[in-house]
Amino acid sequence: MPETVEYSIFRGSESGAIITETVKHTIQPNEALVEISHAGLCGADKLSKTKNIPLGHHGAGIVREIGCAVQHVNIGDRVGFNGLQNPCGDCDYCIGGKEQYCTQRDHFEKVGSFATHAVWQASMLIKLPEGLESKYAAPLMCGGAIMWEVLTTNDVRPGDRIGIHGIGGLGHVAILMSSALGCDVVVFSNSQSKRHDAMAIGAKEFHVTNDNVPETPVAPVQHLFWCRDGPPDISNGTIYVLAVGLETVSVPMHFVVKNGIRIQGCSSASRKTIRKMLRFVRLHEIKPWIMTWPMTADGIQDAFKALSESKMRYRGVLVGECGLA
Ligand SMILES: NC(=O)c1ccc[n+]([C@@H]2O[C@H](COP(=O)([O-])OP(=O)(O)OC[C@H]3O[C@@H](n4cnc5c(N)ncnc54)[C@H](OP(=O)(O)O)[C@@H]3O)[C@@H](O)[C@H]2O)c1
Ligand SMILES: [Zn+2]
Ligand SMILES: [Zn+2]
Repeated sequence: MPETVEYSIFRGSESGAIITETVKHTIQPNEALVEISHAGLCGADKLSKTKNIPLGHHGAGIVREIGCAVQHVNIGDRVGFNGLQNPCGDCDYCIGGKEQYCTQRDHFEKVGSFATHAVWQASMLIKLPEGLESKYAAPLMCGGAIMWEVLTTNDVRPGDRIGIHGIGGLGHVAILMSSALGCDVVVFSNSQSKRHDAMAIGAKEFHVTNDNVPETPVAPVQHLFWCRDGPPDISNGTIYVLAVGLETVSVPMHFVVKNGIRIQGCSSASRKTIRKMLRFVRLHEIKPWIMTWPMTADGIQDAFKALSESKMRYRGVLVGECGLA
């Protein structure tokens, strides 16, 4: 007899208030109920806050129930998850390790991680390795996953001069990972106050920008990771656009052609990438810098406030009851 479970979720609203809602769900054969211990607050969540959808799209927790066909995880397992669910498993993207681009996949608006629990397609859950605390694993399921994906699937090599623009949740993980990979890391930030932190975690140069433009000329980079909102700088190299901005950007095609510029969009990551990323961060003892709040409507609102006031250093994490133990 399939079990029906009841739990609380937090969703956005037009006014921006955080709404608490009770959800009932009958667990299907291939699903698992996860009690959420930690969920990361990402720049992308700012877009969800004023929509009537469940909030949060990545996190970590403990499996509490499984459907009758689930073999991949067991009750009691510590798992992580990003927003990706129901890729078809059969298209070129899915079998080529790029399931995040499967046209059949569900978008993350359906299930949120700002909640006491969530029901996920069990095969999309990733067991967390011993020795990596869930409070660090949770934020890595989004920012860590996408940064590992762009750094390792785009011909970025040790010694390459790479630029990282915008030092928030994504940007600081980009510095940690790329310096561990042996890259020459050049940071661009509108916040002079982040200089010390950036240099402490592996940057070799730090350039203050005014409205995203460096105050003094900077030698070209081979790869530029655009980790902030606003139109990207396309003056040299390959530009990896990570920000989920809604603006339309005009691109001077003659300049792009003449200078061999590449513009590469990048979103999310496959389970294969996430597993490798988790092994790498354990090996190199990489930990995101986090600030924590309780997983309550007030806690979520306070975390959003810190994010919008640029006070986050560098990733907010909401902590559920089982994360306090
Ligand atoms: N492609 C993907 O899979 C993926 C995954 C996660 C997030 N994202 C997107 O990537 C972007 C960055 O995410 P995040 O989680 O790192 O966000 P975040 O923590 O808010 O950091 C963004 C950074 O942008 C700069 N910034 C802050 N306010 C700004 C403003 N009003 N205008 C322009 N820049 C501002 C700040 O950097 P400085 O102080 O250094 O200037 C800030 O630290 C967002 O657009 C997010 O939606 C994409
Ligand atoms: Zn995210
Ligand atoms: Zn597919």
